[in-house]
Amino acid sequence: MAQHHLLPLILALILLIRPSSSSSDETPALFTDPTQILFSGQNLTDGVLTLSLYSDCRLILYKVGSLVLDFGTSTTSTHCGMLVSDEGQLLLIPDSERTPTQTIGRITNSANYALLFLNNKLGLFGPAIWNNGVRLPTLSISHELTLNHKKLKAGSADNFLVSGDVVTGSANGDVVIARNGDVSTVITSSCKLIVRNDTSGESIWQTRPTSAAPVECWLRLTYNGMLLLEGRNGSGLFTQWTGGYEAREGTYVCLLRYFGRITIYRLKTWLYDGSSSAAAAAPAVVAKKIKMVTA
Ligand SMILES: *[C@@H]1O[C@H](CO)[C@@H](O)[C@H](O)[C@H]1NC(C)=O
Ligand SMILES: *[C@@H]1O[C@H](CO)[C@@H](O)[C@H](O)[C@H]1NC(C)=O
Ligand SMILES: *[C@@H]1O[C@H](CO)[C@@H](O)[C@H](O)[C@H]1NC(C)=O
Repeated sequence: MAQHHLLPLILALILLIRPSSSSSDETPALFTDPTQILFSGQNLTDGVLTLSLYSDCRLILYKVGSLVLDFGTSTTSTHCGMLVSDEGQLLLIPDSERTPTQTIGRITNSANYALLFLNNKLGLFGPAIWNNGVRLPTLSISHELTLNHKKLKAGSADNFLVSGDVVTGSANGDVVIARNGDVSTVITSSCKLIVRNDTSGESIWQTRPTSAAPVECWLRLTYNGMLLLEGRNGSGLFTQWTGGYEAREGTYVCLLRYFGRITIYRLKTWLYDGSSSAAAAAPAVVAKKIKMVTA
């Protein structure tokens, strides 16, 4: 499994590539693909919420500076790393143990997962039910991990749609509906969805077909996790393109990664649901000690 395969590399990173204390990266998300690591001393901050990982693997969620959730993961270590596994768990890896010793969340099927903030809540998302097929333009994950460490931390997410949301384009011109670093997602006046590299002007990915004449068009994420590009012309409503498939009803997010991938994730579990009492959220979280056998 990818997890076991990557572990030695991840441990090497945690032990050798300790981040400088002057880190000011804003990293409001953590993804499994490619693997990203939050190091102790670093924070994930989004709006009023800050998730902090400490050197003893303590994981604390703050809301405007006040502690709202202690995940109960502290151990004896002088450095710690955290990642989202491809089985949908948060793994905490202290340098004293050199294997993950604490997990948060239940194991679910092997897939792509993400730790995301959404409307002042913090949740584990996944499995990813669909993506547009755009891949990282690098050779391999190991290459990415070892040589491009800065990229790992650039895990910025743009949650451009939550199930139930509709974003509208225009018959009068292109409308940018999401932006992440170099790339943006656009609804064109010919009712096409494009992921564009804003630096080079190149199109990374696009939908078909294209309407012959400019038309009013909108993008909608359903409560079943389907992405629909729809429009209205002289003949009435039409569906121009659909992404994904009809899954079971739930909370879904659709987001744009910095390299042009659009992914739809299902909410797996809220780790913090915004309720003021930390005790209310805590039972949803299982932090437990494990001993992981690595082959
Ligand atoms: C992380 O957040 C904590 C709690 O708000 C804060 O004390 C600390 O300075 C932050 N660290 C960084 C590197 O921003
Ligand atoms: C409206 O759009 C649909 C789907 O693209 C197309 O089949 C139909 O001919 C269009 N009607 C008009 C009046 O443009
Ligand atoms: C966008 O284009 C620029 C210039 O060609 C390139 O350096 C960059 O890597 C591209 N970014 C993506 C995400 O494709």
